[in-house]
Amino acid sequence: MFPATVPLKKPVVKLPSVPPCKNPTHLLPSPPTSSSAVASSVKEMAEEAVLGFLEHNDEIVDSGEFAVEKGINHEEIVNVVKSLNGFGFVVAQDIKRERWQLTTEGKTYAASGSPEYQLLMAIPPEGISRVELQKKLGDSVFKIGCQQATKNKWVEMGKTQVSRKVARVDDNVKALLIKINDGEALNQEDIDALKRRKLISPQIWKGYSVKKGPNYAPKRRKPATDLTRENLQSGEWKELLFKEYNFLAKGFPVEGGYLHPLLKVRRQIQMIFLQMGFEEMPTNNYVESSFWNFDALFQPQQHPARDSHDTFFLREPSTTKTLPEDYVERVKQIHESGGHGSRGYGYDWKREEANKNLLRTHTTAVSSRMLYALAKKPFEAKRYYSIDRVFRNEAVDRTHLAEFHQIEGLICDRGLSLGDLQGVLHDFFSRLGMSKLRFKPAYNPYTEPSMEIFGYHEGLKKWVEVGNSGMFRPEMLLPMGLPEDVTVIAWGLSLERPTMILYGIDNIRDLFGHKVDLSLIKSNPICRIGL
Ligand code: PHE
Repeated sequence: MFPATVPLKKPVVKLPSVPPCKNPTHLLPSPPTSSSAVASSVKEMAEEAVLGFLEHNDEIVDSGEFAVEKGINHEEIVNVVKSLNGFGFVVAQDIKRERWQLTTEGKTYAASGSPEYQLLMAIPPEGISRVELQKKLGDSVFKIGCQQATKNKWVEMGKTQVSRKVARVDDNVKALLIKINDGEALNQEDIDALKRRKLISPQIWKGYSVKKGPNYAPKRRKPATDLTRENLQSGEWKELLFKEYNFLAKGFPVEGGYLHPLLKVRRQIQMIFLQMGFEEMPTNNYVESSFWNFDALFQPQQHPARDSHDTFFLREPSTTKTLPEDYVERVKQIHESGGHGSRGYGYDWKREEANKNLLRTHTTAVSSRMLYALAKKPFEAKRYYSIDRVFRNEAVDRTHLAEFHQIEGLICDRGLSLGDLQGVLHDFFSRLGMSKLRFKPAYNPYTEPSMEIFGYHEGLKKWVEVGNSGMFRPEMLLPMGLPEDVTVIAWGLSLERPTMILYGIDNIRDLFGHKVDLSLIKSNPICRIGL
């Protein structure tokens, strides 16, 4: 169940000792087949050298000196020591040394003398003009040489002439630089002086002192990862060193059981509605009659949304069988001639049009059914919500599909006002992480007034349209039989839009449909906070 794929922490079995490796080069494969073969054999050689040495000695005092002695690259020794240390074969202690090395400038002076010495040597006993001296030495040596030689009181710098003050000097700087180059120690004062002139720079050298570790063995054997039939038959299993299980290794990712981002956001929104005291409406009918989808919502029969270019009508069964007849009659009335103070639309309402089956274009069709059912009983205030699929015959593009999920909320109570609607919307959207809202007058056949909702998106730093809302018209509510003082405030939005914003998806086809990359479903975050 747990693949033993990660190196063991401790070797389990101590191995019999092997003679130390006196001449490690015999391990080199000849001829080397590939560069990795060479690399691994150099590694083996270094490892044998370290383990072999420790078998008969207490300590490798300095890995640097050890590397020189064994003729092995120090870096290789360091790598091997680190690995052996990790497995407890050895215990390694850091050694850090600061060494001085010559800078490029320092190197030139070590070779051809310090500028001040070169300068002095270039001045003849009778003196020389500045111009000529500069020509002889070059700009840089002349400039630095003048400074240093003056400081040393070796020369007299006249306006035009330069003359010696001393006959002979030692080139101390050059001598110091050579000492540094040979690795000799200098006193701090000299070091500081050279450092100030940027003739030397520090070099940090890192190495180790190495001792036997708790798991020391003279040779590292590759541990077996599987116990085979052959191991058991031969009895070899008794001696074998097995790789330890690594219970901390990450297992294989579990396939299946991933939640789609839409489902996660749906859940988040569902929780918000429930916390706000809303009940879920039964939306398990994609097929709806035109009556409940449009007519009951006071949407006239010649409204462009009722065209087959916008709505998917059903061929089979093409019409609905049952509608509540007395209510149908009241709806016909209100469309044709109005009532309750409305003039209606003044057209010839046709039952055949209302009977046509379609794929619901909004979940407001369910809301109309729910309100009608509510009107049949003694009045009770309600908060309803739904989140489900709706269908529109639309051209598919980056932001539109022919189907999407609609989120809908409504509150039905006596004397609700537009202020109540705005208050509820603020509550709802701030729970989604959007506390700044703006409203824009809009039009829906079934609401008056109607408002588009805009929210300020803190992440995108702009106002984005987040939904549509309004108060259901009396022309819709009164024929249902709801009391006159009952008003219904409602709003709707898509589930896809907030999900795309939350999950940073800019093409709806990457979220829904046959083009969705399955890895999106597998690797998307558990949840996203704030819209
Ligand atoms: N049904 C509307 C739509 O399709 C949303 C809405 C619901 C608007 C309720 C107002 C009230 O966009």
